[in-house]
Amino acid sequence: MANAVKTIGVLTSGGDAPGMNAAIRAVVREGLANGCTVKGIRRGYSGLLEEEIIDMDAHSVSDIISRGGTILQTARCPEFVQPEVQKKAAGILKDHGIDGLVVIGGDGSYRGAQKLSHYGINTIGLPGTIDLDIACTEYTIGFDTAVNTAMEAIDKVRDTSTSHERCSIVEVMGRGAGYIALWCGIANGAEDVLLPEKYNYDEQELVNHIISGRKHGKQHHIIINAEGIGHSTSMAKRIEAATGIETRATILGHMQRGGSPTCKDRVYASTMGALAADLLCEGKTNRVVGYQHGEFVDVDIDEALAMTKGLDEYQVKICQSLGNAY
Ligand code: ADP
Ligand code: F6P
Repeated sequence: MANAVKTIGVLTSGGDAPGMNAAIRAVVREGLANGCTVKGIRRGYSGLLEEEIIDMDAHSVSDIISRGGTILQTARCPEFVQPEVQKKAAGILKDHGIDGLVVIGGDGSYRGAQKLSHYGINTIGLPGTIDLDIACTEYTIGFDTAVNTAMEAIDKVRDTSTSHERCSIVEVMGRGAGYIALWCGIANGAEDVLLPEKYNYDEQELVNHIISGRKHGKQHHIIINAEGIGHSTSMAKRIEAATGIETRATILGHMQRGGSPTCKDRVYASTMGALAADLLCEGKTNRVVGYQHGEFVDVDIDEALAMTKGLDEYQVKICQSLGNAY
């Protein structure tokens, strides 16, 4: 049966995430294997509007599966919310013969893909974000690498924190979501984790907890603070003043977004990228690829954007109890 699309475009949008290159490689190679032409669009929707469109062949994605970042580069394009800009972008895609588009990014990027589908471009979204904050999927490209990077960094902070018998606040990324913080909280055995979804801003409770831990012989007190709570440096000063225990703040920042992707990110991103190309060839549009209950699935973008997601309550509970057994 003939493919429903002839030319597939692929772009990365929003914050980069390790594994995006593996996804690009899979879109390109699966698209070519299906008999399509594949084009790369540089710098997300901004590059699309500037017609930064390049031909991709199998060789153009050689040697990238192990590299962090995105070879297509990425951008935020605030004007893409405007209907006339979306219409112009759809026109550019059509001028370049692109009838199918894979958008690798987060919720915001899917909204762009959704709008382009209304203008006759077949679109498939792939969940590319370290934040894990996409409701229709239990996995997002880059989370596994980022959370492992953060975990290793926090292990290092913990060593020095114990040596100096200090309290350490480590701030991790996640925008408004606490997934990286919660996973590190469990993986690093933190004494406290401040999650945007849960923290009640009762700093006195935190202070009491640190003092109590010290009385019970704790040599350090690791607080993992999610970016959505923030203010780690001023919090450290207040905690030191209130407890009399030396307190340091470490903000991990963008190091969490870089680095060579883990095996899981390479394999899942490759699977999702190939599936996106296959779905386009089958004539699917306005869909997001996700991972649910052990399977790779595709979900309608409108439905995906209407879904909500929360932290696993049991993991929140054990994070607190396992890190505080004395
Ligand atoms: P993410 O995709 O990671 O959620 P952003 O929220 O920054 O990242 O969105 C990435 C890009 O997607 C934005 O810069 C913009 O170009 C596009 N976008 C976001 N929201 C919309 C929207 N409502 N309609 C169309 N495009 C959007
Ligand atoms: O969405 C990924 C992310 O790294 C968030 O965790 C963070 O809030 C944001 O992007 C940072 O964005 P920027 O790269 O613009 O500083």
